[in-house]
Amino acid sequence: MRRKIVVGNWKMNKTFPEAEDLLDELAERLKEEQDDQDVEVIVCPPFLYAEMAHDLCTDEDDESQVYYSVGVQDVSEHAQGAYTGEVSAAMLSSMGVEYCIVGHSERRKYFGESDAQVSRKVEQLLQNEITPIVCCGENAEERESGMQFDVIGRQLKEGLFGLKPLDFSRLVIAYEPVWAIGTGKTATPGQAQEVHAWIRNLVQEQYGKEIARVLPILYGGSCNARTARDLFAQPDIDGGLIGGASLNADDFIAIVNSFEK
Ligand code: 13P
Repeated sequence: MRRKIVVGNWKMNKTFPEAEDLLDELAERLKEEQDDQDVEVIVCPPFLYAEMAHDLCTDEDDESQVYYSVGVQDVSEHAQGAYTGEVSAAMLSSMGVEYCIVGHSERRKYFGESDAQVSRKVEQLLQNEITPIVCCGENAEERESGMQFDVIGRQLKEGLFGLKPLDFSRLVIAYEPVWAIGTGKTATPGQAQEVHAWIRNLVQEQYGKEIARVLPILYGGSCNARTARDLFAQPDIDGGLIGGASLNADDFIAIVNSFEK
């Protein structure tokens, strides 16, 4: 059995009081409404709210009850020093952050993040005991010209395949077709499954059967309360990386509860 994971990527949304309300509501309602305790719920707010997210993720009376884990959306590729505006993996780790999204298509597109940077960020995170959630995926043009496997293959090989097997086995991968992000055009379960199975096979060729078998591969891109169930029912889809629908507790919790029993 592979891990089942749902990640909320809030992107650049929510003021401080709005973030506090949503985090509070998530903790309270996950306590009552989460159907399957084996589903790992991860919330990735903006950096500024990571500490608050960490404070609010446990039960007030029993700190051993954790309702969600805290992640962030990016990290510096550098360990420390004169890098104005950057946030290091060591800082995040010291604040209780357990996960970090890396190589999101928005960072690749708007901030020029390269596969080489993805690789350095992953190294920083692993050295600081933070689990990288590494994104890959093709854009519309690349899919239309049938290039999706070339693009994803390059992203994985250059970003990740330099890792030793033990390090690679600590990753979570997210397939996020760029044409599906924020567009309402969710990939069909068949389209997503095809890519997930292909990724798993590529990982198997590089790292062997056992590492590929247990690797969690999440789907992201207009995944919502309506589409999650059919996606999560696919054999190689282990959960979701959720943007817009993670900004609202009703939708996000419905997605958390979308795994087959
Ligand atoms: P949407 O769910 O808003 O399409 O965003 C997906 C995403 O980019 C998550 O990282």
